Amino acid sequence: MSDEIGGLGESSCARIFRRRISLEELREYTSSTARVADDVLTERGTILLPRGAELASLISSVDNLEKTLQRWGIFSIPIVIENTLDINELENILHKSEVQSAIIDPELAHETVEQIGNVYGHISEGACTPEDVSNLAEQGKKLAKEVVDAPQVMLCLGKVKSWDEYTYKHSLNVTLLGGYLAGKMFPNNIEIAEQLSIGGILHDLGKALVPQNVLNKPGKLTDEEFEIMKQHPGFGEQIAVQNGVTDPAILAVIRGHHERFGGGGYPDGLVGNDIPQAGRIAAVADVFDALTARRVYKEPMASRAAVNIMVGNMGAHFDTDVVRTLLLSIGLYPPGTVVELSDGSMGIVVGARDKDLMRPSVSLQIDKMGYKVNKMQIIDLSLSEELFVQRALSDVGKIAS
Ligand SMILES: [Fe+2]
Repeated sequence: MSDEIGGLGESSCARIFRRRISLEELREYTSSTARVADDVLTERGTILLPRGAELASLISSVDNLEKTLQRWGIFSIPIVIENTLDINELENILHKSEVQSAIIDPELAHETVEQIGNVYGHISEGACTPEDVSNLAEQGKKLAKEVVDAPQVMLCLGKVKSWDEYTYKHSLNVTLLGGYLAGKMFPNNIEIAEQLSIGGILHDLGKALVPQNVLNKPGKLTDEEFEIMKQHPGFGEQIAVQNGVTDPAILAVIRGHHERFGGGGYPDGLVGNDIPQAGRIAAVADVFDALTARRVYKEPMASRAAVNIMVGNMGAHFDTDVVRTLLLSIGLYPPGTVVELSDGSMGIVVGARDKDLMRPSVSLQIDKMGYKVNKMQIIDLSLSEELFVQRALSDVGKIAS
């Protein structure tokens, strides 16, 4: 499933503000994109200001206009402001934002991706050693410690995706997300998080034995190619065992990450709780990362949309408890979500502090007056008593993919 799913975010997000402004406020809007929302009429029905007139075009006659309107007993006018946020613009903002870099050390992540790449190289040359595998396992264990206490794992996933090839980054992300989910499901048992992280770092090693043309094929695999692809969990398990891995939970991550909860997965076609728990957690981490990754042939899917797909496949593809944990962890407003705040302003979620996922940090894009905000302005809603998220408007896609 993970290699067949594509997804597109929305390319822009339009927002229309309608409000009534007083004549004193008129000047403030003459440099905006505001237009008159409805005909402004005298008592006899003569049009003083036609609907659609741009306030910017009235700048030279604003004094006269004010006087005319006052003479007719009109002291406020209805206006409409339309602002469009462009997805590229928003992604740039998310890249620049420092809020998201809080959790995982980028050096550690980069080092891990390189290390995974080297071991893949050794496997395809037939030169993998027990030391290679035990070093990777050590790295997995280190990463488990990084993520078990993280409030929001999305931050780690986003930050590392711009490097190197997909499979290595994917392995790192499954290491982080698997360890994170296990840490949330079993908060008092670091061992399970470590097993998931170690399993995650090793989970796709078998792909080193899958031909490149099958592995990197853009689009759907033929039946024959898919049969080859289906061998990689078994190959991976063999490599791990041959190089000294004995922990059944770690091996279950490697062999079981493509099993489906409702049956029909591979390589064993197990059903429900017959799939070892570590494999069920890994399956969620594996598909969630695949959905939200940018590939040559697909744009990254927004995390909110990806969670919706995971929820839609609870029971059939995924263990419900694991997806529920994912849902709670991602929060209502994952990074990249465009939100409207309680004062009518609008911004993009860039992260969440502590455990307050309901009140994220938001990079303000359109202020409460309807003006675009040019300077970077981050509002930490967990510190604000008045402001809160009124509603989520859309996602701009996964951060920094
Ligand atoms: Fe896989």
